[in-house]
Amino acid sequence: MTEQGGIPITRVVVPAERASRIRAKVRAAQSMPVGVGTARVAKVEDAELFHRFLSDPAVHTPIYTLPSPLTPASVCEFIKKHLAEQQAGEGVLFLCFDDAGSIVSYNNIGVWPQWAAGKMGGAMHPEYQGGGSGTRGAAAGFGWMFEVLDLEVICETAAPDNVRSAHLLDRLGFDRMGQITSYRDDGTSRPSLVWEMTRDAWRNRHSG
Ligand SMILES: CC(C)(COP(=O)(O)OP(=O)(O)OC[C@H]1O[C@@H](n2cnc3c(N)ncnc32)[C@H](O)[C@@H]1OP(=O)(O)O)[C@@H](O)C(=O)NCCC(=O)NCCS
Repeated sequence: MTEQGGIPITRVVVPAERASRIRAKVRAAQSMPVGVGTARVAKVEDAELFHRFLSDPAVHTPIYTLPSPLTPASVCEFIKKHLAEQQAGEGVLFLCFDDAGSIVSYNNIGVWPQWAAGKMGGAMHPEYQGGGSGTRGAAAGFGWMFEVLDLEVICETAAPDNVRSAHLLDRLGFDRMGQITSYRDDGTSRPSLVWEMTRDAWRNRHSG
């Protein structure tokens, strides 16, 4: 994945063999643990359903990485871009479904193999927001990124007014790293607060 507006802040170059192994793990990923429902890799055929999920402002407004404008076609391109990223071992887009086949959340994993670093973005369906499943799902997802994808650093960003994300990251023990400017696909920008967590710190805090 290309560098994005100054993140990750922590960049320790890992040996090429380690970076290759991380790419292989990203390519092989088919699911990940989530707070509600079951996650699988997004397919082109999901575009219309995913577009309906994203169209709710309570879902898309806080997220700068989504396509703009949001249309079924732009969402289809977004899915294709992530399928290509997964082939390159640099990212994977998961959709999480309930038993009835409705989307309950999505997770957008980005990986910088050369730094053993990654980030996770996403959103829950409004029905599930504010009920604790975001924190539970994020904790499970971060643990998966450290232990299954073999990452050393996770870097997260959120808009300064995104109180839930800030609480979530502070609660899970991420360090605040300052503020950057994040750029949307359409060239507009917004300020983002930045958090990071190392694998060592994660294990110390969350193991057992
Ligand atoms: C961000 C998101 C994933 C968090 O998941 P969630 O299930 O809603 O969050 P939780 O219920 O686990 O709550 C997280 C924290 O926010 C607090 N919180 C929840 N609702 C809140 C509200 N309306 N106002 C203030 N704080 C709130 C919770 O108390 C908790 O903090 P605590 O652990 O210190 O008590 C979810 O709200 C979401 O999808 N939002 C829309 C998209 C988005 O913002 N994505 C992230 C972009 S960085």
